Amino acid sequence: FQEEAIAALEKVKDESSLAQWRVMHLGKSAFISQIFTRLAEISKEDRPKIGQAANLVRNKLEAAINQRTEELKAKALAESLENEKIDVTLPGRQPHPGRLHPATQNMREILAVLSQIGFEIFRSPEVESDEYNFELLNIPAYHPARDMWDTFYTTDPNVLLRTHTSPGQIHAMHLFAPESIRVALPGMCYRYEQVSARSEIQFNQIELLAVGKNITFGDLKGTLQEFAFRMFGNNVRTRFRPSYFPFTEPSAEMDVECFLCGGKGCPMCKNSGWLEILGCGMVHPTVLRNGGYDPDVYSGYAAGMGPERITILRHYVEDIRYFWGNDIRFLEQF
Ligand code: PHE
Repeated sequence: FQEEAIAALEKVKDESSLAQWRVMHLGKSAFISQIFTRLAEISKEDRPKIGQAANLVRNKLEAAINQRTEELKAKALAESLENEKIDVTLPGRQPHPGRLHPATQNMREILAVLSQIGFEIFRSPEVESDEYNFELLNIPAYHPARDMWDTFYTTDPNVLLRTHTSPGQIHAMHLFAPESIRVALPGMCYRYEQVSARSEIQFNQIELLAVGKNITFGDLKGTLQEFAFRMFGNNVRTRFRPSYFPFTEPSAEMDVECFLCGGKGCPMCKNSGWLEILGCGMVHPTVLRNGGYDPDVYSGYAAGMGPERITILRHYVEDIRYFWGNDIRFLEQF
């Protein structure tokens, strides 16, 4: 019996068969327990001998099961140590770091270049009055030039989202007059327009304004040319075209060769091979006066550039809608 039981114990591999084994070989109805319960049936002379022998067997079996229990515990521990061990040589999971939006990165690069060539950064509000966005810039109510700026109005018709950074010219002049000025005015602008690959209802602009004595159109052209060289490299081709803005006279626009198609023509440049990146001109005498400067003594130039347009050229972005589309596949490329 004892040998059989111990042999059976060898085969026990887990806790539940261990419990089974205990019931079978040490439980109430086990052979060994039967001997104790039926000891009375045995003759007086044989009883101590048989009792002693049965005790011995029971102690052996108990010792055996205790040992087996320990063995199984040790095995289970060894297995879990093996299975759950951490491989410290595995490469870690990369945390997903945040980054600056491509438009912000680009704004900062442009502003860095502008500050190298002497412009101070100046900020002005995105929510404007009709007076600053239009009137003081020589665009009276009902003037047909208002058609150039499709505007988001608030419930108060005098409060609107600025359509360009040009109202910042007036804020800067009011602050600096009669000192000379050389500022760059960055920020978001809004237009109630049809969205397309070339234009969005919201976009950044950077306004340049220089006011002082003897500032000429040559200064404007030379500054913008130098800016283009620094942004696009010294071989970039640019061109000036005459244009019209109510707040500058004369007015012009600057185009950069379209890098997207290499000048061959594409939807972005409307097949012209050129992309307009800014409007500019000499500050209109009326605007100088509205800003607190005497136009007979002072002159100035101004420009308003589209930084997203510049990013489009530098990074071959085919559609301006990518900027505010929040598509991670686009944003991750910067
Ligand atoms: N404000 C003009 C626009 O948004 C651009 C511009 C700025 C033109 C300064 C001339 C001078 O279209």
